[in-house]
Amino acid sequence: MQIQFSWGATRFVILIGTIAIKIARLRPFRGLQRLLEHWINGEVKERLLTFAENPFLAGIRYIFSGIIANRNERRLWQEFPRRFLIPTLYSFGPLINIQKRGEKISQEELDASHPFQGFLEGMPPKLIADMTRATNFCRYKGRICLVDYGNDEALAFFLLPQPSDATLTLVNMARN
Ligand SMILES: Nc1ncnc2c1ncn2[C@@H]1O[C@H](COP(=O)(O)OP(=O)(O)OP(=O)(O)O)[C@@H](O)[C@H]1O
Ligand SMILES: [Mg+2]
Repeated sequence: MQIQFSWGATRFVILIGTIAIKIARLRPFRGLQRLLEHWINGEVKERLLTFAENPFLAGIRYIFSGIIANRNERRLWQEFPRRFLIPTLYSFGPLINIQKRGEKISQEELDASHPFQGFLEGMPPKLIADMTRATNFCRYKGRICLVDYGNDEALAFFLLPQPSDATLTLVNMARN
């Protein structure tokens, strides 16, 4: 059985058989290094504010962002399992998530047939950047699915029913 490994910024991923094992990374040293870099550039406050309003909380969120991502993916899949999300099958606490395994796709493939084009218009710019990056998608059962739906902005957006849901449902019905 072929095993592959992949590193995301917040999770270490083991691809084995038909599943993906997503292990949360803790980043205390990387956090300190980034803090030092931003301090030298005079950007500490601005950078921390992208994680939380309270600088201490921001540091904590940075270090534990893999855990937060696993928890968010599990929650979104349980509460709103849309067809364009790759299934999150199981969680061993927030440290390890088990997902169905997809196959890598190219940026050209994603650009040509994005699975939720209709949603992109209503998203904040930072989320759009994430949701148009091919490394966050895979092909699963012939369709393109999002594999990285762990960030807080994605959770907040996809937990709400969106006007495009109706259109996407019609498109999906037409495809089946
Ligand atoms: N279900 C899956 N099937 C196949 N490959 C996957 C799956 N989930 C993740 N991967 C691979 O692992 C990589 C990292 O996963 P993911 O993007 O979910 O982690 P992350 O740490 O949240 O990433 P980021 O660096 O975007 O913050 C992906 O780019 C992809 O190549
Ligand atoms: Mg990712």
